[in-house]
Amino acid sequence: MSKSSAQLLLDANRTIAPISPLLFGGFAEHMGRCVYEGIYEPKSAHADEQGLRTDVLDALRAQKYTTIRYPGGNFLSGYNWLDGVGPKEQRPRRRELAWQSLETNQFGTNEFMGFCKAIDAAPMLGVNMGTGTIQSACDLVDYCNTPSGTYWSDLRSQHGYAAPHNVKYWCVGNEMDGPWQMGALAAHEYGVKAREAAKLMRWMDPSIETVLCGSSNDRMPTFPEWDRVALEEAWEHMDYLSIHYYAGNRENDTPSFLANSVLFEHYVDTMEGVLRYVKAKRRSKHDVYLSWDEWQVWYKGDPVQGNWTEAPHLSEEMYNLEDALVVGQWLNVFLRKSHVLKIACVAQIVNVISWIHTRGDELLKHPSYYVFELVSNHARGQALDVLVKAPRTETAQFGDVPMLDVSASYDPADGSGAIFVVNRSLTESVVTDLVWQDGRNVTMEKAWQLAGTDPKAGNTWEDPNALTAQPITAPVVKDGKATIQLPPLSFTVLTTRDA
Ligand code: AHR
Ligand code: AHR
Repeated sequence: MSKSSAQLLLDANRTIAPISPLLFGGFAEHMGRCVYEGIYEPKSAHADEQGLRTDVLDALRAQKYTTIRYPGGNFLSGYNWLDGVGPKEQRPRRRELAWQSLETNQFGTNEFMGFCKAIDAAPMLGVNMGTGTIQSACDLVDYCNTPSGTYWSDLRSQHGYAAPHNVKYWCVGNEMDGPWQMGALAAHEYGVKAREAAKLMRWMDPSIETVLCGSSNDRMPTFPEWDRVALEEAWEHMDYLSIHYYAGNRENDTPSFLANSVLFEHYVDTMEGVLRYVKAKRRSKHDVYLSWDEWQVWYKGDPVQGNWTEAPHLSEEMYNLEDALVVGQWLNVFLRKSHVLKIACVAQIVNVISWIHTRGDELLKHPSYYVFELVSNHARGQALDVLVKAPRTETAQFGDVPMLDVSASYDPADGSGAIFVVNRSLTESVVTDLVWQDGRNVTMEKAWQLAGTDPKAGNTWEDPNALTAQPITAPVVKDGKATIQLPPLSFTVLTTRDA
């Protein structure tokens, strides 16, 4: 292992934007075992009186999710929300076409609200823009948010939920540009339908915020024209444009995979360009921000079709150290792009492409679980524009990139700060100086690190704690400077407080 050196220059006056708490959201879909056997399993030894798995709830609570997007995903575009409310024994069993599974509808909108309460997260509901109508979308807002005295709100009361759910965040469809989507539309058709749906939904409840479907990924032939066209139709009725992206190391080119933050930043920059263009073209004073409401590593090829069975094992990807270091970079990018990125939801929160798995009554956490937990617990206040002076490392896909990927936060309200650093080098340890340029007196509070030598190593049912974030000795700050040695293949979190 060789050694090189770097400097991170921090200044509380050099900020990017406030960090939106909603960047630490999750996504739960009726897919595979995310809902059934993940969130909800009345027969489990861990089940509470609502049938929710308390071991999963505890794991999710520790991650401090602020919002959960539900019920899909591709599932959303064939879903009739009426199937999932009312007496459970009367709910229909249906063939679910997105994942070729059998849906029992034992968990639906009201159960989801109970789940959100249990983990103290705000619900973010999707409305079906595939087989669904603008009327059914508007009716769901009425069912959830009208206090009482309408057909739909009274039905909610009859179902046992007298108080309104007050759902603030609404996704107007899911990936409507994809041929795999039930009822996929052309950009202009979708823009018009989404505009009308959002218009009615807001007339029903003007306090809601709406998300327009952006391109499903940057490989779509219609990217980024789809986004421009749909936004031009629906701009004034939308608060956010969605981005979805799944990363992978298909070529087994780890140096490039570990430089994926380049790609994530580029994606945000392109979409921000589209937002600025449409805003200018429409001469609008209204702002639309980005909602990265599906993101995760997903490429290992687990099945996605359920052969018409209940809760099949779908996309139960197992994650390793390199995946966790990509997650760390993703979260860094969220902070670095916090001027335009206001919502993000990891896809998904349990079992399906998730860093938590259940097996019977057991629960397993992958290394990336700990990365998310640390950032969501410590990134507060303002994102700082850190000046990074680091040695560079060569990659096949992105040319040479800095060895360190960094973000930082500072909360003037209580003087707390945090620094998040990925050392993406496979071989080099980096001796890093942290320098506070603003003359503030800070003390280092705590430090944690997730590190390893084998990028493919992970946690298994047999060895569940092989890779976790460990507390490390925090370096001492002297005269506005501290030094820490960052091992290769590592993610480090340092927290500070104004002295
Ligand atoms: O999260 C899994 C799937 O990925 C979602 O259903 C869909 O929106 C995306 O293609
Ligand atoms: O940089 C923020 C973006 O700029 C907003 O999302 C967009 O509406 C504005 O023009």
